[in-house]
Amino acid sequence: MNLTNFMPVLRIGNLEAKIPIIQGGMSVGISLSNLSSAVANEGGIGVIGSAGIGMFEEDFNKNYKEANKRALRKEIRRARERTDGIIGVNIMVALTDFDDLLKVAVDEEVDVVLSGAGLPLKIPVEYFENRRTKFIPIVSSAKAADLILRYWERSYGEIPDGFVVEGPMAGGHLGFKKDQIDDPRYSLENILQAVLMIVERYSRKHSREIPVIAAGGIYTGEDIYEFMKLGASGVQMATRFVATYECDASMEFKMAYINAKKDDLIIIDSPVGLPGRAIRSEFLDDVAKGKRKPFRCFWKCLKSCDFRKSPYCIADALTNAKGGNLKDGFAFAGANAYRISKMMSVKELIAELIRGYEKARRDDENIREKVEASQGEE
Ligand SMILES: Cc1cc2nc3c(=O)[nH]c(=O)nc-3n(C[C@H](O)[C@H](O)[C@H](O)COP(=O)(O)O)c2cc1C
Repeated sequence: MNLTNFMPVLRIGNLEAKIPIIQGGMSVGISLSNLSSAVANEGGIGVIGSAGIGMFEEDFNKNYKEANKRALRKEIRRARERTDGIIGVNIMVALTDFDDLLKVAVDEEVDVVLSGAGLPLKIPVEYFENRRTKFIPIVSSAKAADLILRYWERSYGEIPDGFVVEGPMAGGHLGFKKDQIDDPRYSLENILQAVLMIVERYSRKHSREIPVIAAGGIYTGEDIYEFMKLGASGVQMATRFVATYECDASMEFKMAYINAKKDDLIIIDSPVGLPGRAIRSEFLDDVAKGKRKPFRCFWKCLKSCDFRKSPYCIADALTNAKGGNLKDGFAFAGANAYRISKMMSVKELIAELIRGYEKARRDDENIREKVEASQGEE
C-alpha cells in the first residue's frame, strides 16, 4: 500500500488487518480466490463465498457435498498462493453442508469464518479443538447476538471472536421482515448501537475485545468513518467489490451493476423464505407474474428451501447470472449498487476509500476545533 493509511487497524484476537475493511463473502463463485486475495493484498480481509462453490466440479450434480468441499479447499489454497494477507470464508448457516465446509475451512487454517443466514448455534465440537480459525457470526439484531453469545457461553464455554451487524441496505438475503426494511427503527445505525451494548457486556465479562463490524449500504470512505465513529471496529462491504477487475463474476454480471438504476434494485421473496435484494431482470419479472421456472433439485443445498413448491431454483438462477446468463437468472446486489458507474481495480477502490475516510476525519476535526475555539471565546 503506497498511500498513507489513516484508517485504524481492525483487530480480531491476534489477527490484525491493516485496513478495517472486510470484503463480504459472495457465493456461487462471485468472491473466490481472485477477489479475496486482491483485497487481502491491500490490507483488508478477503472472503471466499462457499455456497455452491463446487459448481464447476465434474461430480457436482452427483455428489455436491464432495464437490463443494474439494472446490473450497482449492480456492483457499489458491488464495494463499497469491497473498500473505488475511483470508476468510463465508459459510451460511442455512447450507445443508455447513458442517462439512466449516471442517474444510478449519483444516486449511483459514483465518476467519463468517457465518449468517441463520444463527450459528450448533457448531461441531471438533471446531473448538482447533481455535486458530476465528469465528464471526453475521447478525441483523441485538436479540440474535445475545442469543448466540448466551448459547456459546453455555454450550462451549467460549464466545465468538466478533460480530458483523448487517443492516437492511445489504445485498442478498436479508435478516428482516419485508416491512422492516424501510423502517428507520431497523436502520444499520440503530441496530449497530443495540448490538454494541450487548457485546460490550460480554466483552467486559470475558475481559476480551469483541470487534463489531458494520455492514449493509456502506459505500464511501466517509461512510466508513461515520460507522466507526458510532463504535464499529470495521466495516464489511460487498456491493462495491463487484465492479472490480478482480471480482470472480463474469463481465455481464459486473455490467448489470454498472447499468442498474435506483428503481432496478428491488426486494424479492426468495424461495429460501427470506426477503432478498436484487437487480430487476426479465427472469424476476416473469416470477413476479406467477411464471414457474421448472428445475430438478439434485442436492437441496439450503435447509429451509421447499424445492417442491418453489417457482425456481435460487442456486441455478444466481449461478446463471454470475456466469453471464442474466436471462435465466438474476444478480443479488446492495441498495447502493446503482451508484456504481465504472469498473476499477481493488487497489483503486481501496485508495478511494482511504481518501474518503481521511477527508471525513479531517472535516470532523476542523469542525471540532472551530467549536472548541468558539467556546473558548465565550
Ligand atoms: C452478490 C452478493 C452475494 C452475496 N452472497 C452472500 C453469501 O453468500 N453469504 C452471506 O452471508 N452474505 C452474502 N452477501 C451479503 C454480503 O456479504 C454483505 O454482507 C452485504 O452485501 C453488505 O452490504 P453491501 O453489499 O451494501 O456492501 C451477498 C451480497 C451480494 C451483493
